[in-house]
This record gives sequence, C-alpha cells and structure tokens, in this order.
Amino acid sequence: MAGKRNNGKFIVLEGVDNCGKTTQAGRLAASLKRQGYEVLPVREPGGTKVSEKIRRILLSRESNIDARTEVFLYLAARAQVTAEKIAPALATGKIVIADRYHLSTYAYQIGGRRMPAEVVKAADHFARHAIRPDITFILDITPAESRKRMTLAGKKPDRIEKEKSAFFARIRQYYRLATRTEKNTILLSGRGNPDALAAEIEMKTLELFKGQ
Ligand SMILES: Nc1ncnc2c1ncn2[C@@H]1O[C@H](COP(=O)(O)OP(=O)(O)OP(=O)(O)O)[C@@H](O)[C@H]1O
Ligand SMILES: [Mg+2]
Repeated sequence: MAGKRNNGKFIVLEGVDNCGKTTQAGRLAASLKRQGYEVLPVREPGGTKVSEKIRRILLSRESNIDARTEVFLYLAARAQVTAEKIAPALATGKIVIADRYHLSTYAYQIGGRRMPAEVVKAADHFARHAIRPDITFILDITPAESRKRMTLAGKKPDRIEKEKSAFFARIRQYYRLATRTEKNTILLSGRGNPDALAAEIEMKTLELFKGQ
C-alpha cells in the first residue's frame, strides 16, 4: 500500500537548475550499487510513463501554463511516481535516490511563483502519500553560476529555465532557508569539485544507514 514504509531509505538531491543534482544522483546510485545495495533511481517530474508525459508538458517551451495549473501538474507527476515506484521500493527495503522531490515544489511554486504555502503544502502532502525523504542534499549555487553552466554546456533553456533571474534568486533563497525549517536537509556548496562533493554525499548517506 502506498503510504507504508518498511526499511527502505529515501535520498533526494535538490537545488536550483544546473547545481549538479543529476550528476550527483547518478554518482551516488552507481556507488551504492557497486557496494551491493538495491537502488532505485528516479527523476522528478518523471519516473513513470504518465509522469514522463507530464514532464514533457511542463518543460516544453510551447506550453502556456498558469501558475496554479503548474502546481497540479507537478503534484500529479509526483503522485504517480510515488504510488507506482517510490512507495513499493521503500516497502521492499530498497534505496530510492530521487533527482528532485517535494522541496522543489516548495522552492519553485511557493518561493518562485509565490503560490500560497498552506495550499501547496497540503496538496503536496496528499500527492506524496505523506512519504518523507530520509535525507535531502541541497546543492547551492548562485543564479549567475547556473547560467554560466548552462551556456558552457550549450543547453537550450526549457520553459522553467527561461524565467528571469529574480525568480531563480527567490528559489535559491527558499532552498537556503529550508535547510533550517525542513527536517533532514543538508546544504552543500554546489561549486566544489564534483569528486569531493560525491564523496561527501556518499559519506553522509552511509552514516544515515549506520544510524538506523
Ligand atoms: N561540481 C560541479 N562543478 C562544476 N560544474 C558542474 C558540477 N557538477 C555539475 N556540473 C556541470 O553543470 C551542468 C549541470 O549539471 P547537472 O545536469 O548535474 O545539474 P542539474 O542540477 O541536474 O541540472 P537541471 O536542473 O538542469 O536538471 C553540467 O554541464 C555539469 O557537467
Ligand atoms: Mg538534472
């Protein structure tokens, strides 16, 4: 059943666009697999057929999406990946590594789009079956660094990435504050060397396994 947890662990990578989430989620998943852990990597929005379809709608530059519609699309994608993939994996003792989860909705929709916090948080809680990450790593970079990385990689900005820099500054601020208000969050500089960052994330994850 969806809200049920057994002894699985839920690790999330968070932060503004281009902070290194996908890089670090991939490295952590690969390293834990090498050590014999059963790992399920997921990305948000996405991770199931339906959620990936919603992702395409959300990120397409062709989409005209109202801020409220956007909230529900992200939550719809989350409800599906939680029910179909995350909850069953946790119930069978797997380690789920998610590239974004609910804190992204808080930071982008509440912090960035200024949607009402109580409404978004209540709907999100419902969408994710009240499941909480055991640990969330927030990789922190400035909006300028984010833009620089996008240019360096020759990436064309998606619907969200083409927003103004004030929007990203609010999101970054929300993430930084969240490390004080949200449980089990760890703020790390995303500017560090990727190997050193991967080692730190892995060490903290293994500490979590030992502690429980
Ligand atoms: N620690 C780092 N230092 C410098 N550059 C990095 C670092 N980590 C990742 N990058 C580079 O930054 C870019 C974005 O990395 P990545 O795709 O992992 O970020 P992301 O947070 O998943 O981005 P998005 O939000 O767009 O999914 C890539 O070109 C990557 O090579
Ligand atoms: Mg990514």
